[in-house]
Amino acid sequence: MSAITATVIGLLKTGDHIVSSRSIFGTITVLFNNFIAKLGIETTFVELSDLSAWEAAIKPETKLLFVETPSNPLTELVDIAALAEIAHKHGCLLAVDNCFCTPALQQPIALGADIVIHSATKYIDGQGRCIGGAVCGTKDVVGEGVYGFLRTGGPSMSPFNAWVFLKGLETLKLRMNAHCAG
Ligand SMILES: Cc1ncc(COP(=O)(O)O)c(C=O)c1O
Repeated sequence: MSAITATVIGLLKTGDHIVSSRSIFGTITVLFNNFIAKLGIETTFVELSDLSAWEAAIKPETKLLFVETPSNPLTELVDIAALAEIAHKHGCLLAVDNCFCTPALQQPIALGADIVIHSATKYIDGQGRCIGGAVCGTKDVVGEGVYGFLRTGGPSMSPFNAWVFLKGLETLKLRMNAHCAG
């Protein structure tokens, strides 16, 4: 959740607008509606797989398209490349929460997304040992705002937890292959 908060606070300002999938982890809906809205950043929610609904919801103030694909818990999907094309046509960034697939199975930046977010709490650790997250993107996109907020806003990972996640990454591919086979 800190990764998502840092992305929104780091990149958006009062008056900006988010288009988000309706099918997202429930706490993100609460974050957008109850807290990010208090900063004057409104969110419009759309059906996840309906590309025309995404495009219709974009306004001149829209800065960010936010999607989780596959979504938690319904595992709904969207075509990331097509959504990235819509985002860029309107001068918006596309952020993909890649929690369910992990980089072992899906790499949204290779499909055109600008930002990838992970709850590392899930498969990246995979063993219920730590809570953490990640925001990935080029220096141009996340270097100043997101990194700057993380440095100053407080949601930093402890060195021990970072080490545990790095150990988790060593077996990520193996574990994801086993999940898929099962
Ligand atoms: C898709 C997705 N994104 C974000 C989160 C939030 O992750 P965390 O609990 O690591 O803050 C979750 C948690 O279930 C999730 O399923």
